Amino acid sequence: MVFGVAPCLLALSQRRRKPTRLFVKRAEGQPREAVQKVCEAALTRGVPIQHVTKRDLEKMTGAVVHQGVCLQASPLGFVTEEKPTRPQHGSHPLPLWVVLDGVQDPMNLGSILRSAYFLGVDRVASSIRNSCPLTPVVSKASSGVMEVMEVYGYNNLSDVIKVKLGQGWQAIGTVGLGEASAGASVVPCSDFQMSKPTLLLMGGEGCGLSPDLRELCDVLLTIRPRRDLHHAVDSLNVSVATGILLHSLLSSRAVAA
Ligand SMILES: *[C@@H]1O[C@H](CO)[C@@H](O)[C@H](O)[C@H]1NC(C)=O
Ligand SMILES: *[C@@H]1O[C@H](CO)[C@@H](O)[C@H](O)[C@H]1NC(C)=O
Repeated sequence: MVFGVAPCLLALSQRRRKPTRLFVKRAEGQPREAVQKVCEAALTRGVPIQHVTKRDLEKMTGAVVHQGVCLQASPLGFVTEEKPTRPQHGSHPLPLWVVLDGVQDPMNLGSILRSAYFLGVDRVASSIRNSCPLTPVVSKASSGVMEVMEVYGYNNLSDVIKVKLGQGWQAIGTVGLGEASAGASVVPCSDFQMSKPTLLLMGGEGCGLSPDLRELCDVLLTIRPRRDLHHAVDSLNVSVATGILLHSLLSSRAVAA
């Protein structure tokens, strides 16, 4: 059950899912314009529309913020491939992929997808195990971006990263402030210039980047706080950190390319 205006609208127009029925909250008078648009998209695709009560919608979606619409449709999964393909013709000369190692909170995953899409990331890749699957909650949190942008899933991120490093890419990890790093140098993200095709590796909410992935990193970026932090506050939310790092990297890429 895809829910929310943007996810339903995009699911209907993108043709990646097979939709079977649109449920719309019964309303007195004219439904909202946004909801009308979703109904039109359903009509265009020949998807039956059923009007139901608010309670029924809440039951179907699990009492989440459904905005008056939900769509019964086939699920979306990760795009899988054994080995990463070479970048397609026409992609940016310095592509940037976000690689997610165990992001489990669907709100974080959705929020990362939305930022990645907005800022022009070329691919989002995720580990399949220990990661949040592409659920309707993720789609809603991404404001429907999950319906538009393919998300690649890999069984073994370490293998993928090695293939890309072999093709001349660099792997960039992240560290919290004052975290020690054995190999790679730690650089504030504002001082870093992206001059190669890049994988930005982000660890999950719990344990961060796994040690074997961190070992593959050429450089570790850090986001400098702009004040003296209370000792109990030492990190950013992973989706917020990803947004800041992406903006920083992609701004520096624009200059370099
Ligand atoms: C991080 O941000 C997301 C939204 O971007 C939010 O849903 C999540 O609860 C936040 N995580 C924490 C630990 O605050
Ligand atoms: C990934 O593959 C490497 C060998 O290339 C192996 O050492 C590692 O344990 C694998 N990692 C996982 C999470 O399966």
